[in-house]
Amino acid sequence: EKGGYEHFMLKEIFEQPNSIADSMRGRLDAKNSKITLGGIREYADALTEANRIIIIACGTSWHSGLVAEYLFEEFCRIPVEVEYASEFRYRNPVINKGDVVIAISQSGETADTLAAIELAKSRGAIILGVVNVVGSSISRASHEGAYLHTGPEIGVASTKAFTGQLSVLIMIILSVAVRKKTITDARLKELLTDLACIPDKIRKVLASNDKIEYIASLFKDARNFLYLGRGYNFPVALEGALKLKEISYIHAEGYPAAEMKHGPIALIDEEMPVVVIATRDSSYDKIVSNIQEVKARKGIVIAVVTEGDVLIPKMADYVIEVPKCDEALMPLVSVVPLQLLSYHIAIMRGCNVDQPRNLAKSVTVE
Ligand code: F6R
Repeated sequence: EKGGYEHFMLKEIFEQPNSIADSMRGRLDAKNSKITLGGIREYADALTEANRIIIIACGTSWHSGLVAEYLFEEFCRIPVEVEYASEFRYRNPVINKGDVVIAISQSGETADTLAAIELAKSRGAIILGVVNVVGSSISRASHEGAYLHTGPEIGVASTKAFTGQLSVLIMIILSVAVRKKTITDARLKELLTDLACIPDKIRKVLASNDKIEYIASLFKDARNFLYLGRGYNFPVALEGALKLKEISYIHAEGYPAAEMKHGPIALIDEEMPVVVIATRDSSYDKIVSNIQEVKARKGIVIAVVTEGDVLIPKMADYVIEVPKCDEALMPLVSVVPLQLLSYHIAIMRGCNVDQPRNLAKSVTVE
């Protein structure tokens, strides 16, 4: 059942080239620049014309919602709010006519997300579900939606569901951009071509597993970790930190790299590993300065960089290369080394990675 892997988590990390291909099958036609989402038809206009999109989720699913926020703004020019379901449901949220809610959930059973959906529905919102488990409560509570089609995720730490969510959200967002005409044909073609290559790019990252395991062995006894990213890689920093804390029980925090100056920089000393997701993108120069700031305080930098980068390897203590990729799609790739890093650290600490203490696969109580 674990397909020769020692743990479900490792199996699911390694499944990602296939599970992402599964999430795109029959939907993405890069050659003809076409996306077909059978699950969003009746409400496709409502989504295209939405005045505002509210994304509701918890945990890792909330992180994929943050990536979606940046993408919706960039490609569709629609204002987006990303809400923790637990906070949304107990506030008195303002929901206007023309607002569309996107609920993201792997299990489709998360109690807070379900309750938030019911609240939004009772105030007239349209609900689109981005869910993995077919027939789950959240998929049934949604008006329409798109399944991930990534297959069952058994390990408690979410891995292939995260990349599946990103893949599906990107397809939704680009199809809205096409309908709204907020993207050029050339840019669409570029993105869809790159999207079709994501499975191969992830295969390349997986080939660095031994190197990542080695880096893990050096930091398995660390007591704290900081994860930094900017732009599309900021939610990846949050996700990397969550993966580490939930399965290895090492305290970790994710931050937008520029926020470091506003507090977390005080934590940095020669014992502090700082994972910086610093791939080549529009914030590259800025994140290079952030790395310098960490090094100036003697922090240890583990950088995730784009292959061929010659600058950051001179500054960072350790680097993990990932293939070149459009910055809008980079989270699909840059999260993978962080999944592996936390897996290996947890294993070396003797933790039960598939069933970490105090956690359940679906949180059906609030
Ligand atoms: C993290 C993790 C949790 C879930 C969260 C939402 O690895 O597993 O943070 O992401 O409980 O669960 P779903 O997506 O099932 O609603």
